[in-house]
Amino acid sequence: MCGIVGFVGKREASPILIEGLSKLEYRGYDSAGVAILDGDKLNVTKCKGRLANLEDKLETTPLKGCVGIGHTRWATHGEPSDLNSHPHTTEDGTISVVHNGIIENYIHLREWLMTKGYNFASETDTEVIPHLVDYFYDGDLTDAVMKAVAKMEGSYAIGVVCSKEPDKVVAVRKDSPLIVGLGKEESFIASDIPAILNHTRDIYLLNDKEFVVMTKDGVKLLSEEGEEIKRDIYHVTWNADAAEKGGFEHFMIKEIHEQPKVIKDTMTSRIMPGKPVTLDDIKITKEQIENIDKIYIVACGTAYHAGVVGKYVIEKLARIPVEIEVASEFRYRDPIINERTLMMVISQSGETADTLAALREAKKQGARVIAVTNVVGSSVSREADDVLYTWAGPEIAVASTKAYVTQLIAMYMIALFFAENKKTISEETIDQIKKEMLTLPEKAEKVLENKETIQKFTAKTYMHKDMFFLGRGLDYAVAMEGSLKLKEISYIHSEAYAGGELKHGPIALIEKGTIVIAGATQEDLFDKMVSNIKEVKTRGANVLGITCEGHDEIEKTVDSALYIPKVMDILSPVVSVIPLQLLSYYMAIQKGCDVDKPRNLAKSVTVE
Ligand code: G6P
Repeated sequence: MCGIVGFVGKREASPILIEGLSKLEYRGYDSAGVAILDGDKLNVTKCKGRLANLEDKLETTPLKGCVGIGHTRWATHGEPSDLNSHPHTTEDGTISVVHNGIIENYIHLREWLMTKGYNFASETDTEVIPHLVDYFYDGDLTDAVMKAVAKMEGSYAIGVVCSKEPDKVVAVRKDSPLIVGLGKEESFIASDIPAILNHTRDIYLLNDKEFVVMTKDGVKLLSEEGEEIKRDIYHVTWNADAAEKGGFEHFMIKEIHEQPKVIKDTMTSRIMPGKPVTLDDIKITKEQIENIDKIYIVACGTAYHAGVVGKYVIEKLARIPVEIEVASEFRYRDPIINERTLMMVISQSGETADTLAALREAKKQGARVIAVTNVVGSSVSREADDVLYTWAGPEIAVASTKAYVTQLIAMYMIALFFAENKKTISEETIDQIKKEMLTLPEKAEKVLENKETIQKFTAKTYMHKDMFFLGRGLDYAVAMEGSLKLKEISYIHSEAYAGGELKHGPIALIEKGTIVIAGATQEDLFDKMVSNIKEVKTRGANVLGITCEGHDEIEKTVDSALYIPKVMDILSPVVSVIPLQLLSYYMAIQKGCDVDKPRNLAKSVTVE
C-alpha cells in the first residue's frame, strides 16, 4: 500500500514528484506529501486527502529545490490526517522519510527511541525510521540508513533525505516494491514504473535489502554488506500512454476496452494450432508434470476468481485435482504440501502480501511454484520457480478488469500445456480449443459494441441497494467476479450464488423487484439455469439474463436479455465477464461514484 517517489537532478523536484504521485494514487489516496531540499534547508509539505489538496498547498507556497521525496498514503497505522501523512521528519527537521509497508516491531523501536530522548508526533509505524536514522547518523546518511534498516522488521520501501547531505536520496526495499529510474543527469525512485515513465524507460529492478544511493553523479546500488552491486538495465518497452486515460473518462472503462488487445497479446506466440503451447518462462518438465498429484491455486480478490475458472479448466483438460483458496486463509491453515504438489499463485501486481507469503510457505514445504503475474520483476515472479506473464500492460483502475481476462487466458494455456504433456485429451480437441481461443479478441470486441442494453438496465436499476448474481458451472465463477466488481465500485451490496444452491437459503431474500443478473452461457446447463431463473421470477425478481446468441427462448423467462457471441463453454468466462464489468461501471457512474478510486480500497495490498 502507499506509493513513494524520489528525484535527484537539475530540474525542479516538486512538479516531477507530484506527477509521479499522480500515477501512484491507485496505491492509496488518504493523504500525500513531499519533502524537498532547497540547498541545505529541508522543507516538508503534506496534508490529508487527495493529491489535489497537496497541489493546492504547493501552489500557494511553492517548494524550491532539485532533490526530494514524495508519498501518497493508504492508512494502516494511524487514521488519515495531516500529522500521520508522510514524509515523517525528525524534530530538528534534518531527516525526512517516505515509507510503503509496515514496520512490525515499531512499538518496541518507538519505546527504545523514547528512552534515548526522541519524541513522536504521529501514530504511525513509519515515524520510527527518521528517528532511527538520526540516532545512527554520524556524517554518512547511507551508513545510517543501513544501520536503521538492520533494526527494522516487516516490509518497507523507503526513501530518505537529509539536509546535511543535500544532494542525495537513499532508498531501500524489502517485501514492498521499488524501482530506480535512470535519466540523463537525473535519477528517480518509485513504487511502480508508470510514475517515472514520462522521464525515462531505463530502470533497475531491486531485490530485497538492496540499497540505492542517488546523487547528482548518478546511482549506486549497494548490498546490505555495503558492497557495490552491478545490475543490468531493464528497458521498458510499453508506452507511457498505456498508463494514461487516452480519451476515456476513467481508467476502468479504458481498461475494459483494451481487453480484445490484451487477450490477443497474452496468447501471441504461445497459442498456435498444430503446435505445442509455448510458455517461455515455465521450465517444468514432462516428468515433473506427470509426478504432480495435486495443484493448489492461491490468490486474492479478482485473481482468486480467475483461479476458480483455473480449477475448472485444469481439472477438465489435464485431469489433475486442483484446490483453490484465498491466500490469506491458505497461509495460516497448515495445508498438506509435498514435493508432488504444484502451487500456482495468481497476482496482477505480483506484490500482494498474502499471496507472496503463501508462495513462500509452499516453497518451504517443497512444492514447485508457478507464478501468473502481470508485472515483470515483481516479487512473485522472482521467487517462483516458473513464471507466466500476462501481457495486460499497466492496470491503473483499482477494480481489475483487463488483468482478469488475461489471467483466464493464462489458466487455459497452462491447462492445455499440462494436457499436451499428459495426453489427457486428443490432439484434435486441443487444436479446436486453440482455434477457438484465437477468436476471443474478436468476440470480446463484439460485446463492447453492444453496451446499450447494459446502459438502459443500469439507468433503471442503479438505485437498488441489493443485487444477486446467479450462474452454474463457469457462469457461477463469473458471477462471483461480477458481484465483486459491483460491490467494489458502486457500493451496491451483492451476492453471487450457484443457481442450484439459491433455494437453500438466499431465495428467502427474493421479493418483488429484487434485481437478479443470471448467466446462462453453458450449453449443458442452460435448461437447468432457466429453471433457476423461473424460481426467482415466480417470486417477483427483475432478471437480466446473459446467454449466447441463438438462445432467444430466454426472453420468455427474463425481463431483459443480453447476448454474447457463441463461444465454446469452457472459454465463455472471457467473453461473459465483460457485460458484468460494464454493468458495475455504469451503475457506479449513475450513482456518481469515483470509479477509479473506490473508497477504502487499494490496487495493491502489500500488507496483511
Ligand atoms: C486488491 C485489488 C484487487 C485485486 C487484489 C489482488 O484487493 O483491489 O483488484 O484483485 O488486490 O491483487 P493482485 O495484484 O495480487 O492480483
